[in-house]
Amino acid sequence: MNNKHTQEVKPQTIYLKDYQQPKYLVETVDLNFILEAEYTRVVSRLTITHNPDNKTKQAPLELLGEDITLISVALNGVALTDNQFELTDESLIIPDVPQNTTFTLAIENTINPQANSALEGLFVSNDMLCTQCEAQGFRKITFFLDRPDVMARFTTTLIADKTQYPVLLSNGNKIAHGELIDNRHWVTWEDPFKKPCYLFALVAGQLECIEDNYTSISGRNITLQIFVETHDIDKCAHAMQSLKNAMHWDEQVYGREYDLDLYMIVAVGHFNMGAMENKGLNIFNTKFVLACPGTATDMDYGHIEGVIGHEYFHNWTGNRITCRDWFQLSLKEGFTVFRDQEFTADQTSRAVKRIDDVNMLRTRQFAEDAGPLAHPIRPEAYIEINNFYTLTVYEKGAEVVRMIRTLLGTENFHRGADLYFQRHDGQAVTCEHFVKAMEDANDKDLSQFRRWYAQAGTPSIKVEKNYDENLQALTLTLSQTIPGQANAAILHIPIKVALFAADGAMMDATVSGVASINNELTLELTDQTQNFVFNNVPSTPIISILRDFSAPVKLQVSRPLTELAFLLQYDNDSFNRWEAGQQLSASIIFQLIAAIKEDQNTGIPATIVKSFKSILEQSWTDLSYLACLLSLPAENYLAEQMTVVDVDAIHQARQLLKRTLAEQLSNQFTVLYQQHHQDESGELNSTAIGRRRIKNLCLDYLSQLDNEDSYQLDNEQFAKANTMTDQVAALGAIVNTNNPKKQDCLQQFYQQWQDEALVIDKWFSLQASSSQPGTFAVVQALLKHPAFDLKNPNRVRSLVGAFSQANALHYHAKNGQGYQFLADQVIALNSLNPQVASRMVSALTQWRRFDTQRQDLMKQQLERIINTENISKDVFEIANKSLA
Ligand code: TRP
Ligand code: ZN
Repeated sequence: MNNKHTQEVKPQTIYLKDYQQPKYLVETVDLNFILEAEYTRVVSRLTITHNPDNKTKQAPLELLGEDITLISVALNGVALTDNQFELTDESLIIPDVPQNTTFTLAIENTINPQANSALEGLFVSNDMLCTQCEAQGFRKITFFLDRPDVMARFTTTLIADKTQYPVLLSNGNKIAHGELIDNRHWVTWEDPFKKPCYLFALVAGQLECIEDNYTSISGRNITLQIFVETHDIDKCAHAMQSLKNAMHWDEQVYGREYDLDLYMIVAVGHFNMGAMENKGLNIFNTKFVLACPGTATDMDYGHIEGVIGHEYFHNWTGNRITCRDWFQLSLKEGFTVFRDQEFTADQTSRAVKRIDDVNMLRTRQFAEDAGPLAHPIRPEAYIEINNFYTLTVYEKGAEVVRMIRTLLGTENFHRGADLYFQRHDGQAVTCEHFVKAMEDANDKDLSQFRRWYAQAGTPSIKVEKNYDENLQALTLTLSQTIPGQANAAILHIPIKVALFAADGAMMDATVSGVASINNELTLELTDQTQNFVFNNVPSTPIISILRDFSAPVKLQVSRPLTELAFLLQYDNDSFNRWEAGQQLSASIIFQLIAAIKEDQNTGIPATIVKSFKSILEQSWTDLSYLACLLSLPAENYLAEQMTVVDVDAIHQARQLLKRTLAEQLSNQFTVLYQQHHQDESGELNSTAIGRRRIKNLCLDYLSQLDNEDSYQLDNEQFAKANTMTDQVAALGAIVNTNNPKKQDCLQQFYQQWQDEALVIDKWFSLQASSSQPGTFAVVQALLKHPAFDLKNPNRVRSLVGAFSQANALHYHAKNGQGYQFLADQVIALNSLNPQVASRMVSALTQWRRFDTQRQDLMKQQLERIINTENISKDVFEIANKSLA
C-alpha cells in the first residue's frame, strides 16, 4: 500500500516555490472502462506533446498512478518492453519519448473499486459505481499527468452489465451508445471543453432521474437531470429548483451562462465531503440533494440551495478557469464560496446569511488560524493536499474576495470579474492573476492588499477614541497586530464605520479623503497605527465599527454594557446590531464565569433581560433575524475568547443565563411560541421558515425550565410534528433535559425513520451532542449500534464528529475518556479512509488552549495516533504539525 507511511519514512513536503511548468501536455484523453465492482479494466489512450514553454529537453515522461495494476503500455502503437519503462509505487516513467512530435500512449490497467474504502478514485456506494478525483484521485484510476495545469479534451466509453448498471454517465454529451453480447451495453461521452483530470467523473448504477430544463439568457435549452436511488426520487424537487435559481442568478449578477446542453447531478450516500463540481456531472453527498419537509429541516433546505449553487458557480470559477497548482486552491474555492454566499443572501435573508457565515468563521476559522495548523489562504507547503480544503482556504478566502469588493465598490468589482473571465477563460491560473485583473480593470493599487494571500493569522485591531467637544471632532486610532505570527505583514484592511447620536440618529460626520455613503464610511487601515479624524461630530458619538463585518479581524474595544444595549436597540447595520447583542451576552457570561471560579453568586444584570424583553415586544418582519438576535453566543465562540478554555464553566455560565432569561421572560416566549406555532404544512417561503425558526427558539428557551410544563410542550410538538424542523427541535429539547419520555421518543423516532439514512444521522448526532450526564456511555453504545458504520463518512461525522466537535462538555471530560475514544476511532479510520480520519483528528489539535492536565491527555492520544503502524500522510501531517 503506497499511501501509507511507516514512522521511519518521512512523508515528502511539496513547496509552492518549487513549482515548475509541466514538461509534457496532454491534448486528448480517450478512456475505455469495462466496469465491474471488483475488477474494472481501464484503457487510456493519450495524445501527448512536449510543452514548448518548458525548456527541459529529453526529459523522461513521468505519469502518476497509485493502487493500480498495470497490464500494458504502448507508444505510438508499439508495446513497450519491461526495460523501456519503469514502474514505482507512485508512477510510471518512460525515459525515451518523442520530443518534436505529438505521440500517443495507450495504457491498460485494472482497479478494484469494491476495495476502495478511501472513496477517492473509482469506488462503490450502495451498489453504484462513482468517482471522486479532486484533488489527486484520478491517479487511482489510471496513470496520468495528474496536475491541474494539464488540461485535455476527454472522451469516455463505459461498458457494463445492463441490469446492474443501466445508467452510465460521464462528463459532457452522450454521443453514442449500443448493446453488446452477455447482457452488456455501452455509452460514449464526449466533453468538448478542455479540463484538468480532477474534473473527470463517471457514474454507473441503477438510478432514477428527474428531468427539467432551463432556457439560458441567450435562449439555449439546457436539460437538467438529477439522479438518485429509486427510493429517493420524491426528494429531488428542491435541488432542481435550487439549480435553476443558481443558473439564473449567475446570468443576472455575473453575466455567466452555462456552456453545455446537459447538466447532471448524482447523489451518493458515501462521500468524503459535500459535493464535487465535475464538468457537466456534479456528484453530491445525498445530504446536499435530498429533501422533503418530513425528512429535511429548514436548515438542510438552505444548505442544499447553497451547495447546489456552489458547485454550479464552479463552472466558471474553477472549471472554465482553473488553478495552476493546488496552492492556488483559494482562487476557485474562496471566490466560489463568496459567490454562493451572495446567492444565498439574495434568495433568503441577507442579514441572517451574513450572521451565519461570520459565526462559522469566528468560531472555527479563527481557531484554526490561531492554532498549530494556521496557514495563509494560499499555503506555501503541504504534505497531503486533502488537508488543505480548510476553513481558511474556503471561508477566509471568501472574506478576502469580499474585502476586494468592499474596497472597489460592487460595480468596479464586477468590472474586474469580467476582465478576469475574459482574460483567463480556458486557462489554469494563480491568485495573482485574479488580483491583477481586479487592479487592471480599476484604478486601485492592491499591492499591499495582496499580503492577505501570504499572511496567516487573524489580525487584532485595537480601537481607541478621543472626542474633542470644542473641535466637534472624533479621533479614532486604529492599530493592527497579528498575535502568534512573528514579523507579521502590515495589512490593508477595510473598516466600515458609522457614528450615532444619543437619540439613535446617525451622524453626518466626515473624514477627509473618505467617501461617505448614507453616513457610512469605509476607512482603509494600511499602517500599523493610524488616526482617522471625523469632523462635524456635535456630541459624544456611539461608534458602530466593522459594520457588516467588513474584514476578518478581531476588535479590541472596551465598551460599557449600556453602549452595547444602545447599539442593540438602534444600530441600523443588521450585522452590528446583532453583534452588539452577542457582545452584551458574552460580557455577562464572562462575568458569570469569573464569579463561578471565585465560588461567588452574582445575579444576571437587569440590562440584558430588559434588552431581550424590548426585542421580544417589538414587531419584526424578518423572524429569522429576530431568532438570531435572541440566540446566545455558542460555547465554542466563548471558548475562542478565553486564554485557558474552561469547558465546564462556559457551559454552566451560559446555561445559567439561558435559564434565567427563560424564567424571567417565560410569558413573552410562550406568547411568541403560541403565536407562531400553527397548523404546520411545511411551506418553504421565508415567512414560514422564519415562523418555525423563532417558534423553535422559544421552545428551546422554554425547555430550559426542565419542568412538567416544558416536557408537555416538547412532547406535544414531537408527537404532532409535520416537518423535520419541528420534530428535530422537539427531540433536541427532549434529549437535553430530564424529560421522562426521552427513551420512548428516541425509539419512536428511530422506528419512524430507520429507512432514511440522513434522518438516522440526525438521530445519532442529537444523542452524541447532548449535554446530559451519561452521554459518553450513550456514545459508546451507539458505536455498537447495527446502524453505525465506520465506512460511511456521514455516519462517522454524525456520531464521532458530533461528539468531538459539538459536545465540548463531555468530549473534554477531565479523565480523558473522550480523547481516548476519539483516538481509537481515528486509528480505526486511518486504514479505511485517511481523509475522514484526518478530519476527525482536528478535535485534538487545539490542545494548547486547555489546562495542563487536559493538554497532557490530548498529547498522549496524538502520540498514540502518530505511532500507529501504517499511518496515512493525511493523519500524519495533522497530528505531527499539531504536536510540533
Ligand atoms: N471542490 C469541492 C467543492 O468545494 C470539494 C472537494 C474537494 C471534494 N475534494 C473533495 C469533495 C473530495 C468531495 C471529495 O465543492
Ligand atoms: Zn468548491
